[in-house]
Amino acid sequence: MKKVDVILGLQWGDEGKGKIVDSISPKYDVVARFQGGPNAGHSLKFDGDSFVMHTVPSGIFREGTLNIIGNGVVVDPAILMDEVRQIEAKGVDVKSKLLISKRANLILPTHRILDGASESAMGKGKIGSTLKGIGPAYMDKTGRYGLRIGDILLPDFKDRYEALKQRHLRMLTMYPDYSYDLAKFEGPWLAAIEELKQFRFIESERYVNDAMNNDVAILAEGAQGSLLDIDFGTYPFVTSSNTMASGVCTGLGIAPSRVGNVYGIFKAYCTRVGNGPFPTELFDETGDRLRKIGCEFGATTGRARRCGWLDMVALKQTVTMNGVTELIMMKPDVMDDFETIKVAVSYKRHGEDLDYFPYDADDSIQPVYKEFRGWKTALGGIRAWEDFPQAFKDYVAFIEAETGCPVKIISVGPDRSEIVFRN
Ligand code: GDP
Ligand code: IMO
Ligand code: MG
Repeated sequence: MKKVDVILGLQWGDEGKGKIVDSISPKYDVVARFQGGPNAGHSLKFDGDSFVMHTVPSGIFREGTLNIIGNGVVVDPAILMDEVRQIEAKGVDVKSKLLISKRANLILPTHRILDGASESAMGKGKIGSTLKGIGPAYMDKTGRYGLRIGDILLPDFKDRYEALKQRHLRMLTMYPDYSYDLAKFEGPWLAAIEELKQFRFIESERYVNDAMNNDVAILAEGAQGSLLDIDFGTYPFVTSSNTMASGVCTGLGIAPSRVGNVYGIFKAYCTRVGNGPFPTELFDETGDRLRKIGCEFGATTGRARRCGWLDMVALKQTVTMNGVTELIMMKPDVMDDFETIKVAVSYKRHGEDLDYFPYDADDSIQPVYKEFRGWKTALGGIRAWEDFPQAFKDYVAFIEAETGCPVKIISVGPDRSEIVFRN
């Protein structure tokens, strides 16, 4: 009887989840997404090729690995089919390797339009959403208006679609100044609905539990990051799903006691795309260096990512709340040339000490930094822990001591091969 291992982001997303899922998926029979939707952009790089996965799990390129889109995911058929075509062009038989939960909710063209209308109405206060319709789709799910993947096969699906679309069109009258082109999204979406019927729709919760009972190794792939969690992130500047380990239970239908290892991924610094609090954000040349060397531009929207130092206060909190068993450090190679590296170890707010990432985090939080000597060594070619410079090992040791969690994998470049596993 196996448990489900989980990989999830500990910061504001884009930690490098796709790369690690791709790297370690040969150890697993199944890779399953459990929340989020095409707001995710998970980059993979191998054999001179690059891919960005939005809805399809990042295990799809591995032979013998089955991939599941779980019930907690919101699916836009048009975006999914585009992605499938790109993967098929690389010779992968996606239809035989991808299973989709009948319970996963659909993102309608009008969800995307509502997302855009709501964001533009918020002006400066906007979330900075990816405009993929994530918020409106999850609102319909919890409001109990949503359509699900399994509904596609119902004889009256078109009527149900029309009814929900009309509801959305009525809602759009709240935004009289917002112009939109429904036909642009609707044509491809309806065509994709037909194409999607060739895929296997399953009761994924039953599949996953049967698989575990039969010793099948499953890896759950998180999207976004813990600081974007709907409950514990920097609300309201968050996404609309539970991105934390608890989301695996509701997003795949497994019991808490069946969650195994929780692999928490973090960058050796911090990034955030979209609006909202970011205590260690750098507005200076160092921030620009991180962005430039780290190629910190959104994999889904192309937006420049905001960059800053590692935030240990927030990291300790997300490690605890996720029950992280092993840490995975990404992109330290970006700081190879840095003379000094800083980490926020506490905050000050209105003159008071603060050792917690508060519910009302805002610009009044001032980070208190600890400074480290840079390693001034190119890490990209290193493949064994012993070969890392001492200054880098010290940085890792500090993170382990603070979080109480071992750093088991260190990624030193975007390619699948640029990785160091520690025993
Ligand atoms: P995800 O959403 O968590 O899968 O992360 P993204 O793919 O959105 O962003 C991570 C970015 O960093 C991608 O461009 C990756 O190719 C790149 N990347 C991943 N790991 C490393 C690494 O160790 N070093 C460097 N320099 N780049 C990396
Ligand atoms: P991956 O899986 C980084 C951010 C958006 C916005 C907020 C809400 O690649 O790590 P949404 O479209 O979900 O309503 O946007 O969340 N966001 C992400 N930021 N990585 C992601 O996914 C993100 N998905 C959403 O920028 O601030
Ligand atoms: Mg991403």
